Formats: sequence, structure tokens, C-alpha cells
Amino acid sequence: MSDAEQIVYLNGAFLPMGEAKVPVLDRGFIYGDGVYEVIPVYHRAPFRMSHHLKRLQYSLDGIRLANPMDDDAWDALVRELVARQPFDDQAVYLQVTRGVAKRDHAFPKGARPTVFMMSNPLPLPSREQVERGVAVVTADDNRWHRCDLKTTSLLGNVLMRQRAADLDAVETVMFRDGWLTEASASNVLIVRGGTIVAPPKDHQILPGITYDATIEFAREAGMPMEIRPVRREEALSADEMWLSSSTKEVLAITTLDGRPFGSGVPGPVFRRMYAAFQAHKPAASRRA
Ligand code: PDD
Repeated sequence: MSDAEQIVYLNGAFLPMGEAKVPVLDRGFIYGDGVYEVIPVYHRAPFRMSHHLKRLQYSLDGIRLANPMDDDAWDALVRELVARQPFDDQAVYLQVTRGVAKRDHAFPKGARPTVFMMSNPLPLPSREQVERGVAVVTADDNRWHRCDLKTTSLLGNVLMRQRAADLDAVETVMFRDGWLTEASASNVLIVRGGTIVAPPKDHQILPGITYDATIEFAREAGMPMEIRPVRREEALSADEMWLSSSTKEVLAITTLDGRPFGSGVPGPVFRRMYAAFQAHKPAASRRA
């Protein structure tokens, strides 16, 4: 199936991607004036859908845009989109923009939000990435101060992610005023002396659904865990550092700014966490 044939959802209709068109004056195109979600789907079952819909509402509230649907309607649409794809493990992408209107920064009156959804095969890390860990680079976080909103205005994140790509790394881990924030499309957790340490959810990071799941699964497994701000020096001298996201699950960082990080291989706490994470997925989507 080509991308153009893939069934997507746009403003009330399911149709092939090649036929899905948005007017050029859509505020998503003109201003990046919208919010989005990425929901992982394991064996056709959305993972933590209610958490994603709650965060969607939080992002919409944050940009003062009314939710065009209630949770039951979102739930039904996501499930229908999933059912229409020919693969089992998926990543549902959905976005809501402030709609189509004459260009003016202030909110338009009476515009109808644009709702778009697509679902692609879930691009999980390769086995090699899980077993060997991945490379990251670091940078100062130069994004705005509402990183807790999942907005489609992602230029800061795009430039950070490209910086990583230019340096053959998977992510850029960022620090603001000397404190660990997150990576360009993932949250970051560290391990020191056997304790998992996660930076608190505030305006400087996205409240990751995988971050929450990781913390919950770690507590359930009796793994020591702390939520508190992490200094750059503390992060850089940690025993382990992980990325978390809907498409990465948890992934160990073993190279940082071109040098081996920690022991240079995924650490023991990571291996335990990875197993705990897999155990919470449907058996058919689990990885060894
Ligand atoms: N990115 N921080 C940022 C900046 C992100 O973009 C993401 C997710 C996360 C992790 O959130 P979650 O665990 O809910 O996926 C943290 C998604 C996957 C994306 O933009 O493709």
C-alpha cells in the first residue's frame, strides 16, 4: 500500500491520504496554531488512550481552543482508524488546529477546528538499539516556556532533533539554566546509585505518557524512584540515562556527545525496567 492509499481521517470523513487536503489558510499551516497527540497501539489496542485524551484536553485548554469532540467520540474515531489499517502495532497521530481563516494573529471568530488523524506502523527502536543503547548529543534548551503543551509549533524541537541527526545521534538531550529538561521528542530519566530519578513535570517538559507509565511500572516493581530536578553535572555523571516516548518505549543512552556514557552498555536498572515495560504490553506485541 502506498502512502497515498493509506486511510486517514479529516474533518468527519475517512479517505485515502492522497485525497486529504487542507486549505492553505489553515492556521496549522500558517502559524503552527494547533495541538497533537501520538498514541501507540499494540496489537490494535490503543495504549493508555484515556491518558492521551486527557493530555489532549490539557493542550487544547492551554491554547484556548475548544475540544471539537468528547472522549467517547475520540475513542470511537481512533479505534475505527486503527481497524482500517492493515498492520497491528500502530502509532496514531492526531492533530487539531484552530481552523481556516484570513491571516491575523488574533483568534478568528467562528472558525471550525481542523481535525486530522493518521496511523502508521509503530516505529519502535531496532533490536540492536535496545541491546546496545543509542547515542545522544546535548544542547541548551532554547525553546519557549510552555513545553508542557503538545503543540504542532515544533520548530525548536525540529532544530534540536536535526542537530542530533547531523551528528549521527538519535536525540538531543537538553538543559535549561543547568537543569535537565527533556530531549527533542522524548523525556529523559537518569539512574544514580540504583535509584531512578525523573525531572518533575512542569512547564519546561512535556508530561510524557510513557514517562508516567515508566514511573508507575517502576514503583509497581519496587524499584527505587525519585522525582526531582536534575542538575546537568548530575545527569552527565549518572550511572544510566534513558529516553522515554510512545515510539521509543524506554531506551538506554550509551553514547553522549561522542563519548561512551555510563558503562557504555544498557545498565542493569534499564534491563529491569525494559522487562517491566514489556510485561505491560499485550503478549503479541511484547519483545524479549
Ligand atoms: N513525542 N517530550 C517531547 C518533546 C515529545 O515530543 C515527546 C513525544 C515526549 C514523550 O511523550 P510520550 O511518552 O507521551 O510519547 C516527550 C512524540 C512521540 C512525537 O512527537 O512523535
